[in-house]
Amino acid sequence: MQKFMYLCSRNTEIYLISYSNTMQIYKANILFTKERDQFEVIPNGYIAVEKGRVVDIYEQLPSTLASQPVTDLGDKLLIPAMNDMHVHAPQYRNQGIAMDLELLPWLQNYTFPEESKYSDTRYAERMYRRFVRDLWRVGTMRTVAFATVHRDSTRLLMNLFLEAGMGACVGKVDMNRNCPKALCESVEEAVSDNETLIAEYAKPNALVSPIITPRFVPSCTPELLQACGDLARKYNLPVQSHLSENRNEIAWVKELEPESRHYGDAYRRYGLFGDTPTIMAHCVWTDGDELRMMREKQVMVAHCPTSNLNLASGMAPIRVFLNEGVPVGLGSDISGGHDLSIFKMMVYAIQVSKMRYCQDKSLPFLTLPEAFWIATKSAGQFFGKVGSFEPGYEFDALVIDDSELNHDNYSLLHRLERFIYLGDDRHITHRFCRGQLIAEPKI
Ligand code: GUN
Ligand code: FE
Repeated sequence: MQKFMYLCSRNTEIYLISYSNTMQIYKANILFTKERDQFEVIPNGYIAVEKGRVVDIYEQLPSTLASQPVTDLGDKLLIPAMNDMHVHAPQYRNQGIAMDLELLPWLQNYTFPEESKYSDTRYAERMYRRFVRDLWRVGTMRTVAFATVHRDSTRLLMNLFLEAGMGACVGKVDMNRNCPKALCESVEEAVSDNETLIAEYAKPNALVSPIITPRFVPSCTPELLQACGDLARKYNLPVQSHLSENRNEIAWVKELEPESRHYGDAYRRYGLFGDTPTIMAHCVWTDGDELRMMREKQVMVAHCPTSNLNLASGMAPIRVFLNEGVPVGLGSDISGGHDLSIFKMMVYAIQVSKMRYCQDKSLPFLTLPEAFWIATKSAGQFFGKVGSFEPGYEFDALVIDDSELNHDNYSLLHRLERFIYLGDDRHITHRFCRGQLIAEPKI
């Protein structure tokens, strides 16, 4: 039986939105990036969605679809939903505070003490509910998250994503050195806790799935890195970690891993660098052979511009990654970063690239379509066919009511640009993940 739901938008139009698998057609001003440097713009266009995937988009509704009901979204914008490729869910309480240290002392003084609290699942639930609700608010429908070392609160976070209907790769963090006792696990515990979660959640096409998450080389002994690599290979799971973020960190990795050619090589030696789909956060100082290996292994950079600013880490060479064909996505990196919105990450990524350009005019700064493409289609490839409105893509989408910002007949491209620069969650009226309308998660 079909289930229908009536929704009232802010301006009281009533829309009929179906939860069924039958075809849905939405009419709106459709904008997305199929190519890196160009927006596709379909004014008053139609998009047909079936079984959670885009069938096609049309300037005029074809006669074969004339009998289908159409949800008319009026003058609103319809765009792909956001993907956050790097965020620390248990650092949510620290968002917007503790900005006075660089990475290594920042971890010891502010981050590890906060993450230690997640041995308490009641504390975890209170914070994680708020975190997932706020991702919903900012229009992020797919998230690649670090949890903590704690198995039970990691499971809780995965269940909250499932309950919300929002996609996520969630990593139980693995660490066993250079951290407080409360966060230090044995290799055996790490393997067994990972395997418990893998047995529960690693299913083909799962909306919420595990990702192998050695925190970074300084937090993991060679034995733990090897165990992580073995888990990734055995269960064919993706990997996430941090790479070449801060110069003191890089020097430390050199001491800890003298046999590795560079930081990236330290992951490669343990099967953690592109043998399965891999995301490395930051890569601010990546160049030379590390860059070459990232291209060869198609390791994705999670570019986190606000984090790089707040922790005084540096300015990642995003233009170089694009030129070299290294995949790139954007991450909020809460709480190194202070802003959860991937729209604002586009703005910061452009601004940081402009500062870098001031120092090196051979690297042109990012354009808006490039930043949008990085945040949507480029990042979305990590989840399969996500981040575009081309046929076959999963329908992850946001409906934007920018009437408040569109006070003087702006073009559709300028309306989108103004929403990205000036808008916020108040302008997002509907959110879809895999074709389903996603309601506000309860906190
Ligand atoms: N490197 C290792 N852990 C972290 C973390 O929590 N945040 C950031 N920004 N870098 C890290
Ligand atoms: Fe991080």
